This record gives sequence, structure tokens and C-alpha cells, in this order.
Amino acid sequence: MSDAPHETTPTPPRLAVEGLTVAFGGLRALDGVGFEVADGEIVALIGPNGAGKTTVFNAISGLVRPRAGTIRIGGRPAPASTTRLLRRGVSRTLQGLGLYAGMTVLEQVLVPLAGVRAARGSERERAMTMLAELGMDADAHRPADALPYPERKRVALARALVTRPSLLLLDEPAGGLGGADMAQLAEAVRRVSAGGCAVLLVEHHVDFVMGLADRVVVLDFGRVIASGAPAEVQRDPAVEAAYLGVPPTPGPPTSGTAAPGTPTPETPAPGTAVRA
Ligand SMILES: Nc1ncnc2c1ncn2[C@@H]1O[C@H](COP(=O)(O)OP(=O)(O)OP(=O)(O)O)[C@@H](O)[C@H]1O
Ligand SMILES: [Mg+2]
Repeated sequence: MSDAPHETTPTPPRLAVEGLTVAFGGLRALDGVGFEVADGEIVALIGPNGAGKTTVFNAISGLVRPRAGTIRIGGRPAPASTTRLLRRGVSRTLQGLGLYAGMTVLEQVLVPLAGVRAARGSERERAMTMLAELGMDADAHRPADALPYPERKRVALARALVTRPSLLLLDEPAGGLGGADMAQLAEAVRRVSAGGCAVLLVEHHVDFVMGLADRVVVLDFGRVIASGAPAEVQRDPAVEAAYLGVPPTPGPPTSGTAAPGTPTPETPAPGTAVRA
């Protein structure tokens, strides 16, 4: 054995965002945003409507071109195409549902594995295993459109998880869900993170976020105004003034605490990317 000091290269974070600036015409939707998510970590991105949360996801996914800043995934620049992002282990759910019209539950979940070609047996098996993990296997052959909203949300989650991502971006996964469905969602997210996946979570349900996230990053008008442990961020006066202190407006018929302006499934927020 050598006495030479053991040199270790630090593992780069799964996601590192630095100086991210996105403008839509004259509107600066993001202004120098920076944060990191490590493997196995759950980081929540919170903030009022229009703060820029979905725009962060769209920039990471290559759907909007940043004016400045860098996005690195596992230490390397993020690719801009969806296929290459999937290959790099990045998966995302959309604000709202973003399910494809006219497909069965199983077909929805097969899309990231097989695209438009006929799925192989092994891919069908993998999709069915994923559906079973989320308690959805009995619905596999039903049209997804026919399912109640919480089940359709779970199909969207299954579609994001079926590729076994190493970075998972969840945009308001609990939107429109009640208490039992939220608890099941939290359990699924914890399971994925325990397997080493980095999770970036955008959510307005404060109790859900504070109970699930290891760290919270708060955006307001496109800037990070606070970040830290959930309890720390909750006590931050700037966060209280910008977001948490505002009394909730009546939202969708769900239980749990929702921060103001929580969009309902029927009224997606502006800027929501819709795939189908
Ligand atoms: N494609 C776009 N073109 C022009 N403006 C946009 C576009 N996408 C988003 N915006 C604007 O950028 C700002 C940030 O929007 P974004 O959707 O990122 O907010 P958010 O934090 O996700 O809000 P919410 O909580 O309501 O979903 C908003 O003012 C929004 O209107
Ligand atoms: Mg949004």
C-alpha cells in the first residue's frame, strides 16, 4: 500500500444551473438563476405564479434558449434535444398533464421507450412493471382519457419514470390531487430518490414540498431570493413576503395547503408547454 495521499475527483452535481437568464421579448423571465441538485437529492423550486419555475424546466429541457448562463448535467453541458436528454437520463413531467390524445395507458408509457415504432416484448414488460409499481397495471389497456384526473397524473408520472431517469423534473405533480393521492405521490418520489435519482420539484402545495424536499430554492420575478433547508426557508422574511405569507385564494377541490394562485387542472398557467 502506498502512503501517497489519495486523490479523489469530486463528483459533479447531477444538475448544475448557473447564471441562467431567459428573456421573452422585453420580459426577463429568469435573471441569473443558479442552483444545484445532487444525485439522490430532492430539491423543490417554489415561488409565486409567473416567478419563472416552468421556464427553468423549459431551459433545462432545451425548449427555450437561454440568453446567458450554463446548464450542466452530470458535469457536462445539457444537450438541447429531447432524445439526447432522455439518453442522458433526464425525464420530465409537464405542468398539467401533457398526455397524448387517444392512447391507452400502456401506449402512453411506451412512448419514451419505443417512440412511434412497435414496442418490443421487453419494453412492454418494463412499462407494465412501472405501471404496477404505481398501482396502475389493471388500467393498462384503458384509454388514458377515460381515467379520473389523479390516475391520469399517475400515468404522466409513470411515463417519466419508465426510462429510469437519473434526473427527474416534476412540474406541479401534486396539482389537482387530494390527500391520499399526494401521499402516494410523495412515496413514489422518495423511492425514486432513494434509488439515486436527482429530483427537481416545482410545486405550490406547501405542506407537500416541506415534507418531501431536502432543500428548497425560492424564485421571485425570475431571481433566486432564498435557498436552504425547508424549515430555514419557511422562516425567511423575504420568502414570507413574496410567497408564503399571502393568504391562499380559493383553489381546486383538493385537500392540503396550496399557496396562492395554484392552477387547477383546467386552467394551466401561462407559458405551460403542452405536448398533446
Ligand atoms: N413562451 C413564452 N412567451 C412569453 N412569455 C412567457 C413564455 N413562457 C413564460 N412566459 C412568461 O414568463 C414568466 C415566467 O413564467 P413561468 O411559466 O416560468 O412561471 P411559473 O413560475 O412556472 O408560474 P406558475 O406557478 O403559474 O406555473 C411569466 O411572466 C410568463 O407569462
Ligand atoms: Mg409553471
